[in-house]
Amino acid sequence: MALGGGESTKMRRVLIAVNSICLLALLSAGSAHAAAGNVAKGKEAFEQCAVCHNVDSPEQKMGPSLQGLFKRKMLKSGKPVNEANVTNQINNGGNGMPAYQDMLSAEEKTNLLAYLHSL
Ligand code: HEC
Repeated sequence: MALGGGESTKMRRVLIAVNSICLLALLSAGSAHAAAGNVAKGKEAFEQCAVCHNVDSPEQKMGPSLQGLFKRKMLKSGKPVNEANVTNQINNGGNGMPAYQDMLSAEEKTNLLAYLHSL
């Protein structure tokens, strides 16, 4: 009996350990999912933007260079550089830039933003 009791306590400890590992795995999977965007995929999506935007030189093409975009304080429009304003620009375009509202999926836009953050 005493032996059996010890075994089941051990078993319970193992189960608790396994449970907490599962929980940790779940939690980290959850936060990886919440972390936005895939930079490599964003770079692919950016090919259609690269016609008009430099990313590795400050030189203007059709549109302004996006080199170091998120390290800047302001967009050309004078609005602060943040996800909302950059997304607005992508969705609405204007002044020579096409509107991408319906041309890119939400996922593509998230990936693009991740890529733009990496510049
Ligand atoms: C046909 C050319 C063209 C294409 C293609 C294009 N843009 Fe633009 N983009 C422009 C122009 C021109 C401006 C400047 C608009 C203005 O001055 O209001 C601009 C502005 C921007 C800005 C604001 C830059 C700043 O410093 O204020 C961002 C961000 C941007 N574009 C991202 C993108 C992304 C991302 C794509 C691809 C999904 C894209 N653009 C595709 C021409 C283009």
